[in-house]
Amino acid sequence: MTVWCLGSVNADHVYRLPHLPAPGETLAAAQYARGLGGKGANMAVAAARAGARVELVGAIGPDGGWMKQRLAGYGVSVTHLAEGGMPSGHAVIYVDAAGENQIVIFGGANRALEAGQATTALANAVPGDTFVCQNETNLQREAAEIAKGKGLRVVYAAAPFDVAAVRDMLGAADMLVLNAVEAAQLEAATGTAPEALPVADIIVTRGAEGVRWIDTKAGQSRDFPATPVTAVDTTGAGDTFTGYLLATLDGGMAMAEAIDLAGKAAALKVTRQGAADAIPARDEVVGWRL
Ligand code: RIB
Repeated sequence: MTVWCLGSVNADHVYRLPHLPAPGETLAAAQYARGLGGKGANMAVAAARAGARVELVGAIGPDGGWMKQRLAGYGVSVTHLAEGGMPSGHAVIYVDAAGENQIVIFGGANRALEAGQATTALANAVPGDTFVCQNETNLQREAAEIAKGKGLRVVYAAAPFDVAAVRDMLGAADMLVLNAVEAAQLEAATGTAPEALPVADIIVTRGAEGVRWIDTKAGQSRDFPATPVTAVDTTGAGDTFTGYLLATLDGGMAMAEAIDLAGKAAALKVTRQGAADAIPARDEVVGWRL
């Protein structure tokens, strides 16, 4: 089967700092690097590194050739990655000594996808495939509706969090992936607890506290512990988790085993610097011993 990822492709400009800057503070970076990022690209790379067939639906600008090449090098199909005149998306990322980050994104080409792009790409999708999107592109709802209509499993990773965007996806999504802060924000804004949302599976990533899977149909929730690691860079850890989760589900793994493996992949990623470029391959995850 195929994982269809409608998502952003960013050039990540990463600055390593002794601490995250306070308002008005000027800081000298200890290190600078440019890498491949964007929540869509990260999820697509993670799913491909986990062994899935992955189609990325997105856009880059004239400055994005290196990102397209790198995606293809990681095994992601870039057939539906449009190349237009608008500059590619980028992110400015500060990472502190504990691996925590602050991220500012500029949408660029990610927010200018052509209306027909999702229809054209998903014409090749078949029932049982998986569709995932995040909140860094336009066309989320339109593409999700097409995917749903074709019998795909529709997954929404609610980041960057925006309550209106989540509300918009609730009617189409079979699975919602969000972190603990986003889950609390959603509950505060809607007055509805995650277990009461009209979505079959809700996955809440809780950092060092692990992952909670809420199976709303069964009315059950189950917690999974995190793999303890010393964090070097948490950027893209959630994306790694989601990509791995969807790839392994797509490959027929049961939810509990898929969450375990995805959690391990995210933990391994956190020990490395970078986003897409730091996502481990499946054999590294399986063979990883702490
Ligand atoms: O989730 C991490 C990603 O968020 C980064 O790669 C950055 O590009 C932003 O999209």
